[in-house]
Amino acid sequence: MNHTAPGTFAIGGDLAVDRIGFGAMRLARNGMHATARDPQTARAVLRRAAELGVDHIDTADFYRSPDGTVRANDLIRQALFPYPAGLVIATKVGPVFGPGGPTQGTAADLRPAVEANLEALGVDRLDLVYLRIGWRVPPRGESLSERFEVLAALREEGLIRHLGLSNVDQAHLSETQRVAPVAAIQNLFDPADADEAALAESAAAERIAFVPFGPLGSGQGSARDERYAAVARRHGATSAQVALAHVLALSPNMLAIPGTGSLAHLEENLAARSLTLTPDDIAALR
Ligand SMILES: NC(=O)c1ccc[n+]([C@@H]2O[C@H](COP(=O)([O-])OP(=O)(O)OC[C@H]3O[C@@H](n4cnc5c(N)ncnc54)[C@H](OP(=O)(O)O)[C@@H]3O)[C@@H](O)[C@H]2O)c1
Repeated sequence: MNHTAPGTFAIGGDLAVDRIGFGAMRLARNGMHATARDPQTARAVLRRAAELGVDHIDTADFYRSPDGTVRANDLIRQALFPYPAGLVIATKVGPVFGPGGPTQGTAADLRPAVEANLEALGVDRLDLVYLRIGWRVPPRGESLSERFEVLAALREEGLIRHLGLSNVDQAHLSETQRVAPVAAIQNLFDPADADEAALAESAAAERIAFVPFGPLGSGQGSARDERYAAVARRHGATSAQVALAHVLALSPNMLAIPGTGSLAHLEENLAARSLTLTPDDIAALR
């Protein structure tokens, strides 16, 4: 492996994080239809992540086991509180957790959602709160101003440091930037999709973090799997490590948040910090 570290990025200009962080969605369950995972293992994964220098954890109050009893936010607090200096915990509001899992909430649900995250995580202020809309595909034409104004007011109150958007398009970004600064975008990103590539480019130009969710294909494989494997063989790396290095190679504002509930996968994913792809590798992954 090449030992050039992928470095850091400052979310909102002041929260510097390592460009490989941790996605907490897989701690409580591994997939929509999966049962609860073992909380003790989840806490061990979080503690090991902190030992290995993870300083950006992506979570949500609705990341829970199907019966709602195992919750990512509780696991984070149990494992890591008092939090290490410099740890950035990003969360999402928008969906509300119901009997069938998360469903879209309204503007009125946002304050209680922010308060639930503050309470569960045991903090006075949330570092980064994404307004999450839709389901994997950005809901085109949906206005976000009313909801973003609620979050901007909570930020003014001092309950939130930075605001982000999840599952959005360029029109959503432009609309919300008229309300308050946007520090991060989290989308299911496909660099081959022209709209997504243009959105990522405008985020890069404005120093907005771009955080692709599902950087490992959400565990379902990816159209690039064969290409990742070929590049991985050249570097003595794994396909997952190549997928993460590929995200980071796209632009300096790209942050990876691989999700895992496995100690072995955690170690493997963080070792991608020392993998740098060559221009030939990147061309082969297009
Ligand atoms: N904003 C949104 O709407 C949204 C949507 C989805 C996700 N997210 C966020 O993005 C994060 C990442 O997304 P994701 O968890 O769906 O997908 P992902 O990171 O692409 O993949 C996670 C899946 O891959 C497996 N995995 C992890 N490391 C691996 C490795 N080295 N080798 C082989 N398999 C590995 C995991 O299983 P094991 O647990 O067994 O390792 C899990 O099934 C989430 O945790 C969450 O924080 C946000």
